Amino acid sequence: MRSMTARFSLRVVTVRVLLPLALAFLVQLPRASAAFAQQPGGSAAAPAVKNPVAVTPASITAGAAAFKKYCAFCHGANAKGNGPLAPKDSNPPDLTDATWTHGSTDGQIFTVIANGGGAKSTMVGFKGKMPDQDLWNIINYLRSLAPKAAAR
Ligand code: HEC
Repeated sequence: MRSMTARFSLRVVTVRVLLPLALAFLVQLPRASAAFAQQPGGSAAAPAVKNPVAVTPASITAGAAAFKKYCAFCHGANAKGNGPLAPKDSNPPDLTDATWTHGSTDGQIFTVIANGGGAKSTMVGFKGKMPDQDLWNIINYLRSLAPKAAAR
């Protein structure tokens, strides 16, 4: 009698709890890995987001100023990486080369700057710390430093 009850409740646990969990996991898996595995902190929609701020001298100048204020101490005054006050061993990358670990479209770069590099990253998100327009200005500025960067 005891073992039957045990077997019964095990079955209930399997069907009621483990099965839905497994299903939920399987449903989430492709979405989660597509969005995050290759681009930590990125989102599936990010690549398609277009830069709403035109590349003008004014935008680039504003981007340079915002970069100097918020980013240079980690990414370096010329965005070449390894700024003077970067957390130890964090190695902030060169933002003037063609390598974009989190994706190379303006939308993907925007997402990293806005939301940060993900839970394990020292790259924090800047959404709300400055107007969105300045985040795009920074991207225009970074693009101006890297004439041969990957296509936007
Ligand atoms: C506290 C230091 C720190 C500050 C401040 C900081 N970053 Fe970062 N950033 C990092 C580190 C470290 C990485 C690399 C880790 C990662 O990719 O998650 C990174 C990664 C990035 C990336 C992704 C590069 C790639 O290859 O995809 C971009 C873009 C970026 N930062 C832009 C900025 C901008 C723009 C600012 C200012 C608004 C800024 N960061 C401020 C530390 C910092």
